[in-house]
Amino acid sequence: MAARLGTRVKPVTCVEDLRLLAKRRVPRMFYDYADSGSWTESTYRANATDLDAITLRQRVAVNVGNRSQHSKMIGEPVVMPVAIAPTGMTGMQHADGEILAARAAEKFGVPFTLSTMSVCSIEDVAAHTTKPFWFQLYLMRDREFSLSLIKRAKAAGCSALMLTLDLQILGQRHKDIKNGLSVPPKPTLANLVNMASKLHWCRAMLATRRRQFGNIVGHVKGIDDMSSLSAWTSEQFDPGLDWDAVAWVKEHWGGKLILKGILDVEDAKLAVASGADALIVSNHGGRQLDGAPSSISALPEIAAAVAPQIEVWMDGGIRSGQDVLKALALGAKGTLIGRAFLYGLGAAGEQGVAQCLAIIQKELDLTMAFCGLTAIEQIDGQVLRALPWSR
Ligand code: GLV
Repeated sequence: MAARLGTRVKPVTCVEDLRLLAKRRVPRMFYDYADSGSWTESTYRANATDLDAITLRQRVAVNVGNRSQHSKMIGEPVVMPVAIAPTGMTGMQHADGEILAARAAEKFGVPFTLSTMSVCSIEDVAAHTTKPFWFQLYLMRDREFSLSLIKRAKAAGCSALMLTLDLQILGQRHKDIKNGLSVPPKPTLANLVNMASKLHWCRAMLATRRRQFGNIVGHVKGIDDMSSLSAWTSEQFDPGLDWDAVAWVKEHWGGKLILKGILDVEDAKLAVASGADALIVSNHGGRQLDGAPSSISALPEIAAAVAPQIEVWMDGGIRSGQDVLKALALGAKGTLIGRAFLYGLGAAGEQGVAQCLAIIQKELDLTMAFCGLTAIEQIDGQVLRALPWSR
């Protein structure tokens, strides 16, 4: 039975419905920030189209009466192998966005990852949740500040650190420049006119005090205006991040480490050598190197080369349970969703994120059944027909 969101007359039945709602409800600069890729957006589009092009083997007359999507990611039990990816300025898609999404994930039983560039701070999310979440780290030039983020994540009880390797330099997304993206938004005429049509967003945003980058502002000396993400990134993120820096982070963190942003087999082997617990095959949602392969097309070769020495996960283009099953069939042990949950958040806050997760789980469950599968461990390459794209 399809659930209803708010006063929408037609039921929400898929992530695309959530996207359309989010587009109506979220100010343009933040909706566009989420729903865009770098330069020509070819990699962004390929993430979804390459997944769509894979076809599945339908099986019949198999007893699929008793199905489960339960699994584990880095040893943590998950209701389905889908984690919430770290996304920047989530608290601008909806007031208190990180807290709402973390709560939805916790209630559902999947991991939530908080971005360094979040609006709600590490401490704030910890204070409003009861289970450990994961923290995503961008390595800064200022190692003292990086260390303080690591320590804060530890103090907040985060159960894993996710180090992003593919964004020490920000890819250019044309819409962000054209929209004058900033946090909080500047009170220009264009922004005020656009926001005037987003009443629910404005009301919730006026009612919260969380409207800045909560992990940064007030924690770094001399930083009071960091409204421009691109200026902040080029000044503060360390373009010198290399495998020695990964070792430095690993040593100081001392817990489970996930490396995000691997697209090449050689890098995957170096990730294994680093001693990390998991790697994420990812092109940052097509937001960094335009022209890089889609995540799903890069996955099989990487999984074949390094799994199970390291857990291989994948993100990029996942909008449905069918997509999750395809990624698992191609060697991923887990997946992450970014835009899909942001659309839910923008559409209806915590309830929208819960709805997104429920949609994906239901789709995964039914797809497994149609393919004659009852458990996540049974999903392998046998469930796919020939891949349409070359590897
Ligand atoms: C940050 O993660 C971005 O892609 O903007």
